[in-house]
Amino acid sequence: MILSIESSCDDSSIALSEIDSKKLIFHRKISQESFHSEYGGVVPELASRLFARDLPLILQEMLHFCPLDLVRAVAVTNEPGLSVSLLEGIMMAKALSISRNIPLIGINHLKGHIYSLFIEKEIIKPLSVLLVSGGHTMILEFNDYEKVRIISSTIDDSFGECFDKSAKIIGLGYPGGASINNLAIDAVNNNIVDNIKFPIPLLRKDTLNFSFSGLKNAFRLEVEKLQKNENNIEISESKYLKTLKPELKQHLALALQNASVAHLLNKCRRYLKKRNDAIKHFAIVGGASSNTFLRDGVERLCDEFNMDLLLSPLEFCSDNAAMIGRAGIELYKNASFSDLNLSIQPSVIEKMNLKQYL
Ligand code: KG4
Ligand code: ZN
Repeated sequence: MILSIESSCDDSSIALSEIDSKKLIFHRKISQESFHSEYGGVVPELASRLFARDLPLILQEMLHFCPLDLVRAVAVTNEPGLSVSLLEGIMMAKALSISRNIPLIGINHLKGHIYSLFIEKEIIKPLSVLLVSGGHTMILEFNDYEKVRIISSTIDDSFGECFDKSAKIIGLGYPGGASINNLAIDAVNNNIVDNIKFPIPLLRKDTLNFSFSGLKNAFRLEVEKLQKNENNIEISESKYLKTLKPELKQHLALALQNASVAHLLNKCRRYLKKRNDAIKHFAIVGGASSNTFLRDGVERLCDEFNMDLLLSPLEFCSDNAAMIGRAGIELYKNASFSDLNLSIQPSVIEKMNLKQYL
């Protein structure tokens, strides 16, 4: 078995995967969302304390499924992520590696998201990937763990971040991606006409890069404009706060959904025009890949280019240790082990500038 640990942001997770069969034997995740929600974002100090509390509890629970002497290696996310969060997972992984005398395997979190497609499955390659998470928005080309090429990236905010920040502006709490998605679904079900329209970023620019900060700003300005009219406001019962009427929030959410997904699809279409002869499989991964509008849009795009679409099961879209374990199996087979001075790397940007490989 490989024991894997994920602690890059605000989810404590541990998994056990059988090396030969790739079967997932145990997987548990404790989310910290409810603790960070009232602050409107992840509070590093709090995150660190919660990892120190939750990771040992999950490890203890795991021991009911498998004694530690069946564990052949320990895989852990070491980059990119919040440094104080990454450190908690790394410390546990190093302690296990020393005490059990088993190899340590450092895993890049973004590559881990790609392996969420292959949990209990064989690998499919070459593969084009749209990665959409809270910290990143990228088009990648995947061949194997060592060969993940960055084709493009966001020049400012990520897709998930844009949703989180916009959600915060209209009082939806953190993280707000799923809340915006759900409001937009309500808007469609209520036949709300999309009379608010945000500009689609970088629409005519011949680049494959993404940008979401302008959209986030357009959202904020529209909210401020709406708030000036007393007819648009009501008092929230729970907090005695002034807030926009629910129907207006649905309008705003639908407009954000439409513009942001149009932006992602526009860049993916440009990319596929160049590469669909070489690569026949396309995937979306990362926490925001559970977005229903995005999933529908990418499905249509893949039909248009005759590509196979790969999606992770919803439970493995957001951060989890099962995907880290699946990547760990590949590195274990190649004996790609890390030594005990494995360190954290909060950002991947420096690497991106050096060479366009993750
Ligand atoms: O991959 P992930 O769990 O963590 C990072 O590696 O960042 O992604 C979390 C991000 C958050 O920004 C969250 O709001 C977003 O994914 N997200 C969504 C949806 N569900 C989660 N964004 C848009 N639509 C969703 N349905
Ligand atoms: Zn992630």
